[in-house]
Amino acid sequence: MHPALNIAIKAARRAGQIINRASNDVDLLKVASKQPNDFVTEVDKAAEKAIIETLQEAYPGYGILAEESGLTAGQGTGDTEYQWIIDPLDGTTNFIHGMPQYAVSIALEHRGQMQSAVVFDPVRNEMFTASRGRGAFLNDRRIRVSRRAKLSEALVGTGFPYRVFDHVDAYLGMLKDMMEKTSGLRRPGAAALDLAYVACGRFDAFFEIGLSPWDIAGGALLVTEAGGLVGNLTGETGYMESGNMVASTPRIFPALLATLEPHLTDALRA
Ligand code: IPD
Ligand code: CA
Ligand code: CA
Repeated sequence: MHPALNIAIKAARRAGQIINRASNDVDLLKVASKQPNDFVTEVDKAAEKAIIETLQEAYPGYGILAEESGLTAGQGTGDTEYQWIIDPLDGTTNFIHGMPQYAVSIALEHRGQMQSAVVFDPVRNEMFTASRGRGAFLNDRRIRVSRRAKLSEALVGTGFPYRVFDHVDAYLGMLKDMMEKTSGLRRPGAAALDLAYVACGRFDAFFEIGLSPWDIAGGALLVTEAGGLVGNLTGETGYMESGNMVASTPRIFPALLATLEPHLTDALRA
């Protein structure tokens, strides 16, 4: 196993412990609102701190992009080419409500390419990991995307717009067609886990608009290392920048894109 992946696993477990401990008393949580409907708790911050401490101890020079503390540039020759991308608690709204669907996501990028990824569900103790070229795993078991080939048989994960409503009409059009053309839609509420579920075959596809890099960096590598495809809403790269993303088994990908296509505005083609 790549040494950086080991460190990321250690960091995710530390964050998971903090999250699990706090989950017993969600009523006592202090919740702040960063923007309307964008919440942060002291748990997000404590988990992020524990992750960053663990990663920096092993790799002091690597850059960091973390949801709650932002960007820290890398230092030292060579090391500046590496960047950790961290979501300490993906699914904060679920967590605040005691809904057991949230995760820690940590990815390592080198010169714009994702190298290692960890998505950890502390509720179910499910550790999803991947390293470039070496496959994806759930705990110690190799995972692959599902073998389903038809969109009509697919169970599809998605996320609703909940903060920015610019694309809500386009999204509702997509949702309507997906309702009619798939075997079911789910909105679990943690994008990193949605992608992990595509990687292990629980979902056959996923689509969402307006995500942030820390929501998708780890999950994207899980999906591709599990044999799936990821892209923006036209199937190309650029999803890390636009935050508009699809993921699926290779055989479902064309039908997924074709279903979304009639609803794309110019802004959504980015
Ligand atoms: C959110 C979750 C959610 C998705 C949102 C994300 P957060 O992350 O991944 O499923 O729909 O777009 O912002 O804020 O809970 O880390
Ligand atoms: Ca997130
Ligand atoms: Ca988060």
